[in-house]
Amino acid sequence: MQAIVPISSRVREIYQQQFGDPALIVRSPGRINLIGEHTDYNLGFVLPAAIDKAIYIAINKRDDDQILLYAADLDQFYTGNLHALNKSGQQWPDFMLGVVQQLQKAGHVISGFSAVVMGDVPLGAGLSSSAAVECATVFALNELFGLQLARLTMVQTAQKAENEFVGLQCGIMDPFASIFGKEGHVIRLDCRSLDFAYMPFATDAYRIVLFDTGVKHSLASSEYNLRREECEAGVRMIQKTYPQVQSLRDAAPYMVNECLQGGDPIVYNRCRFVVEEINRLQEACDDLINNDLIAFGQKMFATHDGLSRLYAVSCPEADTLVDLVRNRPAVLGARMMGGGFGGCTINLVQKDAVEALIKEVEESYEVSFGRIPKSYMVTIANGTSIVTI
Ligand code: GLA
Repeated sequence: MQAIVPISSRVREIYQQQFGDPALIVRSPGRINLIGEHTDYNLGFVLPAAIDKAIYIAINKRDDDQILLYAADLDQFYTGNLHALNKSGQQWPDFMLGVVQQLQKAGHVISGFSAVVMGDVPLGAGLSSSAAVECATVFALNELFGLQLARLTMVQTAQKAENEFVGLQCGIMDPFASIFGKEGHVIRLDCRSLDFAYMPFATDAYRIVLFDTGVKHSLASSEYNLRREECEAGVRMIQKTYPQVQSLRDAAPYMVNECLQGGDPIVYNRCRFVVEEINRLQEACDDLINNDLIAFGQKMFATHDGLSRLYAVSCPEADTLVDLVRNRPAVLGARMMGGGFGGCTINLVQKDAVEALIKEVEESYEVSFGRIPKSYMVTIANGTSIVTI
């Protein structure tokens, strides 16, 4: 049998072949989110966790201003200059260049560097491979150049890189989960105050299973930014009556009904979902505290229905994957996860039933869509760190 070489060793070897010895290797994980979707940029709560699938970066300084990057999984190179940061046209380098730009904006001085990036976070599957690349980059550059950034600053740097360089107006959840993840725990993050608490997530009897729609969310960026604008439009309407409301986090359901019902139905539906979802998450956290995963799972289904009908970010493939597991006692909860328009569904499944469930879902999905969906079993892992080999 062939021994499986860990990615951290492979990334080092590839770096050695391309550039010489790396100064360090950093691992930054992808994320799941149990509940609380599209609530981060509305300054509500989220409940994500880092997973055991990650991006690895091997890196070292250069003594000029060049940036040399190699994405080993894609076999693609990028060459650029620290002082001429433009979009690469290749996507993956942009996540790294955006971080460099943010560091420069914050007044940090770095030299050129070379890096190899690779990993096992499925791309375009809603597991935040992009945030993982950004977080690995900022963590690695911080270490390499002794920038002394706090973890939260790294999170904010990664988010701004995505907002300002890549152009997705995403919230803080993905980089926060990647950097702050803790094995066996979900993170209850208040996206307004940035206070957070680790909550144990017992997965002894249950497994977290992801079914991948296989739909790459090409619409995601424009539709995502549009959702954000629709929420902001709702806030402006509510403010006319309740000026204290700064974001949907501050809005109670009665305010949404009073100020938005009868107006633009799209804005009403979007805001209603977000306000309901913020409350649902808090109740779901009570379920966790009471160890009532059955009630927790029901809320996941309710979230899916809201995302699909009110927030309109699901797709037929994700709806089907959720419908296929509904009303099965072995599945406590399921819903589409992340920004939407494709990606994965997250399912909380009784351990002993996982194998049979995967088989049945594969067969039924193939009948509907002509292809077998990939499935991933994930466990909750630690956040960004240096890897010692
Ligand atoms: C994407 C964004 C996050 C969050 C989710 C939806 O993953 O990057 O900030 O808004 O969508 O919850």
